Amino acid sequence: MTPHPEQDGFTVWFTGLSGAGKSTLAEMLFHELRRRDMRVELLDGDVVRTNLSKGLGFSREDRDTNILRIGFVANLLTRNGVATIVSAVSPYRDARSECRAQIRDFVEVHVHATVEECARRDVKGLYQKAFAGEIKGFTGVDDPYEPPQSPEIFIDTMVEEPDQSLERILGSLARFGYIADGARLVHEAAEHSGLTDLDGAIGADLAGRHSAAEADDGDAGAAR
Ligand SMILES: Nc1ncnc2c1ncn2[C@@H]1O[C@H](COP(=O)(O)OP(=O)(O)O)[C@@H](O)[C@H]1O
Ligand SMILES: [Mg+2]
Repeated sequence: MTPHPEQDGFTVWFTGLSGAGKSTLAEMLFHELRRRDMRVELLDGDVVRTNLSKGLGFSREDRDTNILRIGFVANLLTRNGVATIVSAVSPYRDARSECRAQIRDFVEVHVHATVEECARRDVKGLYQKAFAGEIKGFTGVDDPYEPPQSPEIFIDTMVEEPDQSLERILGSLARFGYIADGARLVHEAAEHSGLTDLDGAIGADLAGRHSAAEADDGDAGAAR
């Protein structure tokens, strides 16, 4: 048997509006942690809705069920020593708190951009549909987003480039003692993890991406 170095698990939980930058930062962090030879998993809201939470809608109850399922899996991974990354809108404070209560080592990252800025980016064209009424119950448009009151990390993507945000996250994880080296180790293009639905030119150092999920409806609201 090969001996494995001990690794304490933790969960980095990205919450924020659709288009705020959760998947971008989750993907970049994934590669940094892998480069450190850590066991890493990434649970992305848009992808989870195509498997673990397939069939769930966007009512408050279904959204909470989705988040609690993700939290349940994140806890299993975390307690088995996996560095676990979650990127999901997770709009409700109570559901996030329940996940925090379950998971011992929990780092909440509020990825912030205003609705106006997310709509300007409109990465998936969903805001346009939400404003046109083609999508009902879209987070930030006609469904609530309850921002964290005291996240471990606050990222303002209106004023920072993804590179800078990643560097701040790594610095915080090092300060919290979850990683030894808070410096950036990945500078070259990395293969897409296949665990987020990113495509196109997102993030300076990621290339060769493909669309992992045909999650056209997104994690923020339901197409009608
Ligand atoms: N500091 C930043 N961190 C992450 N993304 C950013 C940042 N600044 C600008 N962006 C851009 O915002 C968009 C975020 O898209 P995405 O990561 O798919 O959002 P989400 O997963 O939250 O819906 C990308 O186009 C990304 O390049
Ligand atoms: Mg995303």
